[in-house]
Amino acid sequence: MAKIELRGVAKRWGEVTAVEPTGLTIGDGEFVAILGPSGCGKSTTLFMLAGIYTPSDGDILFDGQRVNDVEARDRNVGIVFQSYALYPNMTVRDNILFPLRFKNVDKAAAARRAEDAARLVQVHELMDRRPGQLSGGQQQRVALARALIKEPQLLLLDEPLSNLDASLRLTMRSEIRALQRKLGVTTLLVTHDQIEATTMADRVICMSRGRIEQVGTADDLYHRPNSIFVAGFIGSPPINLLSCGISAGTMEVGQAKLRATGGEGACVLGVRPESVILGDGPFRGRVGDLEPHGRETIYHLETPLGPVRALEAGAKSRFRVGDELSFALSSTLVFDARSTRRIDGAGAQTPA
Ligand SMILES: Nc1ncnc2c1ncn2[C@@H]1O[C@H](COP(=O)(O)OP(=O)(O)OP(=O)(O)O)[C@@H](O)[C@H]1O
Ligand SMILES: [Mg+2]
Repeated sequence: MAKIELRGVAKRWGEVTAVEPTGLTIGDGEFVAILGPSGCGKSTTLFMLAGIYTPSDGDILFDGQRVNDVEARDRNVGIVFQSYALYPNMTVRDNILFPLRFKNVDKAAAARRAEDAARLVQVHELMDRRPGQLSGGQQQRVALARALIKEPQLLLLDEPLSNLDASLRLTMRSEIRALQRKLGVTTLLVTHDQIEATTMADRVICMSRGRIEQVGTADDLYHRPNSIFVAGFIGSPPINLLSCGISAGTMEVGQAKLRATGGEGACVLGVRPESVILGDGPFRGRVGDLEPHGRETIYHLETPLGPVRALEAGAKSRFRVGDELSFALSSTLVFDARSTRRIDGAGAQTPA
């Protein structure tokens, strides 16, 4: 296992900057996830850690040792790719054994390790099959066994679950998490799925356009997002973002005046759907649409502020499409409209 550090690590291809200079430390045995939209530089970061790409700038350290010039196969890193990248003409056994082919491991010991790795992910009864004779979930497990056979000091997972159906993804999520705890291997998961990131990892690194926007726990990202980007990326249904102006402690949101606890000038008010309280308050709207989800209802309100999403818990929906209603905002986040950063300590209370 290893402690991993990125110091000012960047990657450019000519004019394209995939990763801006980035600093990051992953603790020994920690499980972190990189979360962000397509093209934000997640895989590029992972490939630099793996030794597949060389950084354009900065240093990568494993346990304090600079590894920039250490080749991929000498870094002792296990990788699972989105596509699994299994060799179709080899048996499961030979696929799992593959990373040991240039290592000085005697045949009997290697076979034992393959058996152990296969047992760990429960494919030990499929050793003589070829990848084409396996289900997607089984192939995924073989890829995981192959990544683990070297007893890597760092496990890298690039969208490992995206080819699986929803129920298998759920199972594999908790299996990978349990396996990681059991082995204590330092792990980096790359995903664009916020649920995957927040349920599996100890800490989530939220990336946008080659830059780390925020590093934190699921709770940090949801309740204390640094920026409009993070607030909008985390949470489903997504946060409501309403324009407002703050002047001398009063926040104007449409016709309503709320008491502001900070901030000045043009701002953006972030309101999670569960913080839109239906039935009473200074705002008015009409139910344009609603989605009953059994345990909760999501309302799409048409309001003078624009569309507002509200989430109400409970098995029965209290309102119907076409109903006119009033609502209040309970807990809010305030962002500076220009910098898009959250204004610390700001918040709104109804009414002014
Ligand atoms: N070999 C390359 N040459 C030039 N540009 C590249 C290369 N590889 C990646 N890029 C660019 O770098 C940026 C980041 O790519 P990267 O693959 O890291 O994104 P990602 O976050 O993994 O996205 P996805 O979720 O779609 O996999 C993208 O704009 C991409 O087009
Ligand atoms: Mg990628």
